Amino acid sequence: MNTRVFESFSDKETFDIAFRIANNLKAKTGSVVVCLDGDLGVGKTVFAKGFGAGLGIKRDIVSPTFNIVKSYEGDKRLHHFDVYRISDISELDEIGFDEFIYDDAIVLIEWSKLIEEALPTNIIRVFISKDLEKGFDYRKIAVEGIDDEDFGN
Ligand SMILES: Nc1ncnc2c1ncn2[C@@H]1O[C@H](COP(=O)(O)OP(=O)(O)OP(=O)(O)O)[C@@H](O)[C@H]1O
Ligand SMILES: [Mg+2]
Repeated sequence: MNTRVFESFSDKETFDIAFRIANNLKAKTGSVVVCLDGDLGVGKTVFAKGFGAGLGIKRDIVSPTFNIVKSYEGDKRLHHFDVYRISDISELDEIGFDEFIYDDAIVLIEWSKLIEEALPTNIIRVFISKDLEKGFDYRKIAVEGIDDEDFGN
């Protein structure tokens, strides 16, 4: 599986990287699941905001931490999950997780590693990490599972 690594030195760069990825994914038909992981405060929600904008969503993407999922209409629909507060995987059944996952939509899941066993096999993984040697605002953004042509170049 090919992995692309992007480097970001600011919120704006992370937003723009996510914008471009989403913009290239929105033409895809059917469900696209994007798993978004990385430590607390690393920039997952900043990425989600750029990702939503790239899908043509006009509303600001806000963290759905307390209601687990929030949906938005754009050029392609987005279901934005933040599963950080899930204590038991059965909570996913209660909210009808599979209906979101198999919708004709992009599904972006923050903290997906907490629900690994509920994830489908065909997913895109985005992993954000810091490297303090490269600066306080530096972030490495590794993207796995996107075909080269879907990066738009
Ligand atoms: N290059 C960068 N990319 C993204 N965020 C950055 C960057 N540099 C600094 N930041 C800061 O890091 C923080 C990221 O916060 P954000 O809420 O997006 O993290 P998160 O991964 O969603 O956290 P949580 O796990 O608590 O949900 C913000 O305060 C943002 O300004
Ligand atoms: Mg967050």
